[in-house]
Amino acid sequence: MNILMVCLGNICRSPMAEGILRHLAHQRGINLSVDSAGTADYHIGEAPDRRARIAMKRQSMSIEDLRGRQVSLQDFSRYDMLLAMDNNNRRDLLRLAPDDAARQKVELLLTFASNAGLTEVPDPYYGPDSGFDETFHLLENACNGLLDAIGKR
Ligand code: 4NP
Repeated sequence: MNILMVCLGNICRSPMAEGILRHLAHQRGINLSVDSAGTADYHIGEAPDRRARIAMKRQSMSIEDLRGRQVSLQDFSRYDMLLAMDNNNRRDLLRLAPDDAARQKVELLLTFASNAGLTEVPDPYYGPDSGFDETFHLLENACNGLLDAIGKR
């Protein structure tokens, strides 16, 4: 199973989601290949936002080695699921998808969260540092739900 986490810049939400899913899958002994990408080209080659790296480190997870990249057409053949952080990311993925099979791989990540009360992961980029801890907990909730769903397949 190959999973791609997708946000706008690939420096805040999706690299955090990538790190969390990889960590939780490893803990559960589930064999997954996880990556992340941004719909925009703003931060190609950059490390995740400092605040994202610190929030992850507080939870003993490291995303120091990740580098930003942009979503590409090939991602629709490489990955089984392309999980969007918000509706804009989802819309952009659906526009890029080459066919129906590709479109069916696109979902909002939070469809897997339980009782989150949100359908989109708010962008923490312009907010206070504490937003990154909230992002962490929301992503952790969704990644646990995703792994539950994968485990039942
Ligand atoms: P992300 O956050 O999509 O969660 O990585 C953002 C990062 C950068 C920008 C916007 C959102 N930006 O405009 O540069």
